[in-house]
Amino acid sequence: MVKTSAKGTKIFTALSSDAPEINAAAQLIRAGELVAFPTETVYGLGAHALQADAVAKIFAAKGRPADNPLIVHIYDLSQLQSLAADIPAEAMLLAQHFWPGPLTLIFSKKPGVPDITTGGLETVAVRLPAHSIALALLRQAGVPVAAPSANLSGRPSPTTAAHVLADLDGRISAILDGGPCTVGVESTVLDIRFGEPKLLRPGGVTPEQISAVLKRPCHLVHWQPENSDAPPSPGLKYIHYAPRAPLYLLTGVPEKQLEKLQQLQQTFQAEGKRVGLLISRESAAKIAGEEVIILGSRNHPAQLAARLFAALRSFDAKQVDVIIAEGYSKTGVGLAVMNRLQKAAGSRVINVGGDE
Ligand code: TXA
Ligand code: MG
Repeated sequence: MVKTSAKGTKIFTALSSDAPEINAAAQLIRAGELVAFPTETVYGLGAHALQADAVAKIFAAKGRPADNPLIVHIYDLSQLQSLAADIPAEAMLLAQHFWPGPLTLIFSKKPGVPDITTGGLETVAVRLPAHSIALALLRQAGVPVAAPSANLSGRPSPTTAAHVLADLDGRISAILDGGPCTVGVESTVLDIRFGEPKLLRPGGVTPEQISAVLKRPCHLVHWQPENSDAPPSPGLKYIHYAPRAPLYLLTGVPEKQLEKLQQLQQTFQAEGKRVGLLISRESAAKIAGEEVIILGSRNHPAQLAARLFAALRSFDAKQVDVIIAEGYSKTGVGLAVMNRLQKAAGSRVINVGGDE
């Protein structure tokens, strides 16, 4: 099924990986056009990764800074040879374990990969997604596809075609609607070129899972904006995942978070503000508010991850003046959830004491 929006973006609906709409979308990619497509993590904004003019359209449509490199998506391990100049044995081990899946690996790049795709870096990020429609699209396009998350730069990543349309309608040729994404946070970005595994962005594959395969620890690289060094991943420099209202993030012992949340809620309400609460199922049983979104159970980080970006976007629609969000444990995919919440909060993080 194909519709065209009033602003001229085609909306292809694909109910399965053999839908004919996928081929139409693949033709557009081959022709150098932009097509948003579903992956297991978030929707990506795809273009022919080896055509500089096509990739330039991604940066223009998103308003993305030119030095923030893109992830190149492939459907088969054999395509890696054409992109990576060197494939360390441990990178291959991880690819074999986690591909298809939400893991992005950094390699030194082959000359055929245009500079614009890698933001001028000598490295290229590659991922093989675990989504049948994404894989069918990549296979039919037959070329590596550069794809950042399909949102306007700085906005929460899209987990449905409607989110993509809200940001990019009229700015891109087409959207391939394959339903909601299941993981909900982006892929894990890992650099293992120099032996030591460096986690540049926590995501769908957890550090615990990576450690188990490599049989050694895998830690998140810490980089603060006030550092004068270049960040290990350019994406670390930029504002991310911001809903329109300021978001306050609480961290620490859950019971104390709840007390602090209620205090803050009263203060903001006394100032005449509409307050949005982003809370766990456990806390929802104990407190009330005007605009409450229940993210999921504290004990199911995968559930929290799956709903996070949609929740941030729906606070925009509810037109709240301020959002108060609970913090969660950083184990498993909880690390990625907390990373995204921290970025959405910026400096508005309040620790109430203790660990969680
Ligand atoms: O799950 C995902 O990874 C999604 C889906 C569409 O695959 N894509 C995604 O892309 O999240 P994007 O562009 O929103 O985030 C890519 C991140 C950025 O933070 C970027 O700086 C980093 O990966 N990155 C890309 N290439 C890099 C490189 N060569 N070296 C270091 N970091 C890199
Ligand atoms: Mg992004």
